Amino acid sequence: MHRTVVITGADRGLGLCLVKDFLAAGSAVVAGKRSGDRNLRALGERGGKLTIVQMDIAEPASIRAAAEWVASRVGAVDLLVNNAAVFPSLKGVPLQARDLADGQLERTMQVNAFGPLRVTQRFLPLLEKGAGKTILDVSSEAGSIADAWRTCELEYCMSKAALNMQTRILANALAPRGYRVVAVHPGWMRTDMGGAEADIDPQEASRGILRLAADPTAAPNGAFVDYTGKPLAW
Ligand SMILES: NC(=O)c1ccc[n+]([C@@H]2O[C@H](COP(=O)([O-])OP(=O)(O)OC[C@H]3O[C@@H](n4cnc5c(N)ncnc54)[C@H](OP(=O)(O)O)[C@@H]3O)[C@@H](O)[C@H]2O)c1
Repeated sequence: MHRTVVITGADRGLGLCLVKDFLAAGSAVVAGKRSGDRNLRALGERGGKLTIVQMDIAEPASIRAAAEWVASRVGAVDLLVNNAAVFPSLKGVPLQARDLADGQLERTMQVNAFGPLRVTQRFLPLLEKGAGKTILDVSSEAGSIADAWRTCELEYCMSKAALNMQTRILANALAPRGYRVVAVHPGWMRTDMGGAEADIDPQEASRGILRLAADPTAAPNGAFVDYTGKPLAW
C-alpha cells in the first residue's frame, strides 16, 4: 500500500473514485482540484487523511504553489497519479471544418501533455523522499500511434501520445533511482468526459488502477497498460 498518494483532477470522474478508493485502502491522499471541491469536501477530513489542494495543471505557478504547500504539510509522497485532463468538445469534427486558431490545440496540449510533466517535476523532491517511487500517468488508447483508428479528435490523441512519450522518457531516466513510471488507459468510462454510452463505470477503472499501483509485476516500469493490466501498443 502506498502511504501518501497525490492525485490531480480529483473532484470528479475517475479522480474522485481514486481518492475514495485510496482512502478506503488506508492511504493518505492529497487531492488536487482546479475549480470546485464540493465532492471532495463531502468526503470529510477522514481523520486528517484527506488534504485538498488548489492545483490548475495548466498553470505552472499554480503547480509550483501547490507543490510547495504540500511539501510544508507532507514529508514524502509515494505515488503520483497524473489524472487531470481535458477532451475538447469537437467529437467528429474533421480537420476541414476546424478553426485551428480557437485555442483548443494549445489548451489541450497544455493540460494533457505539459501539465503532467510540470506536476511530475515539481513533486519529484517529495517522491524522492517516499518509499513507493511510483508515477502513474492516466493516458488513453487514443494516444497509441500503433493502433490509431480515429479520423479526427486530433489534439486529444496527440496530447496523449505526447504523454506516452513522457512516460517512457521518465521511465528511462528514473529507473536507476528505483522508480516505476507507467502509462495507464482507464477504459472508456461513464464520466463527464466519456459520456453515458461508455463501457464501464469509473469505479471499475479505479479498482483496476489500485491493483496496478500495488503490483509492480502487473505494470512494470515503462509499461503502457489498460486498467486490467493488459499491455497496449505504443
Ligand atoms: N472517460 C473516458 O472514457 C476516458 C478514456 C480514456 C482516458 N481517460 C483519461 O482518464 C482521466 C480521467 O478522465 P475522466 O473521464 O475522469 O474526466 P472528467 O470526468 O472530465 O474529469 C476531468 C478532471 O480533470 C480536471 N481538470 C481538467 N483540467 C484541469 C486543469 N487544468 N488542472 C487541474 N485539473 C483539471 C477536471 O477538473 P474541473 O472539474 O476543474 O474541470 C476534472 O476533475 C483523464 O486523463 C482522461 O484523459 C478517460
